[in-house]
Amino acid sequence: MIKFTDVYKTYNQKRWALKKVNCEIEQGEFVYLVGKSGAGKTTFLKLLTLEEPLTRGALQIGNANLTTMTEKQLPMFRRQLGIVSQNLALLENMTVLENILYVLRATDFGGRYAKKRALEALAEVDLVDVQKKKPEELSIGQRQKVLIARAIVNQPKIILADEPTGNLDDKSAIETMRIFFRLNQKGTTVIMSTHHSTIVNTVRHRVLEINEGQIVRDQSEGSYGQPTDGRDIFYI
Ligand SMILES: Nc1ncnc2c1ncn2[C@@H]1O[C@H](COP(=O)(O)OP(=O)(O)OP(=O)(O)O)[C@@H](O)[C@H]1O
Ligand SMILES: [Mg+2]
Repeated sequence: MIKFTDVYKTYNQKRWALKKVNCEIEQGEFVYLVGKSGAGKTTFLKLLTLEEPLTRGALQIGNANLTTMTEKQLPMFRRQLGIVSQNLALLENMTVLENILYVLRATDFGGRYAKKRALEALAEVDLVDVQKKKPEELSIGQRQKVLIARAIVNQPKIILADEPTGNLDDKSAIETMRIFFRLNQKGTTVIMSTHHSTIVNTVRHRVLEINEGQIVRDQSEGSYGQPTDGRDIFYI
């Protein structure tokens, strides 16, 4: 379970990027983070990955208290999260398979089963065929799927994704969302920020709307915004 208690975050002391955030997310939930550009969505996710420290308040994931986590505990903690970052950062001089194996090496998971696990992760995103290719040979959609494979290879209980469909055409966006929905159905918590109103309005899940750093809406099976855009007809 994830619990924000009176969380505040400022980057520059001038204004709050997040303000008085209180919320709980149970294991297995699917949460869309929505809100205008600059609202605080990325910041919300970065506090959870400890890429940024919070300024005030308390944040808990399971038994881990993020406010008191030490540098030494950080790698072990992060390995339990599936982080899909916004910048498509793959190691360009390595093949797709090596990119996934690299994560397992860096976290000393896997051992002799590393290759099997890496291939399972690639199978999950339907990319076994491109395992020997270099990232430069992939489409943007394929790159995004490799990033997801990399994020899930340690079989995380929580996936945190920052606008995972942001750079994608509709077909790749649907394929990417299918992967997340499938992982969620297997019990993985998914928290993703998005501006994709059609996805949010079509496959309904909990919506947390952030505005100027504050949660202004917490709606189960929510819509992207109010009122719902009547043009959003999207089959998935
Ligand atoms: N590294 C940083 N240094 C200073 N201010 C920052 C930094 N990162 C974010 N901010 C500020 O914090 C606020 C929230 O930004 P954040 O990136 O969380 O918004 P967002 O909701 O993810 O926006 P977008 O939809 O554009 O990605 C903004 O006012 C932004 O300018
Ligand atoms: Mg953002």
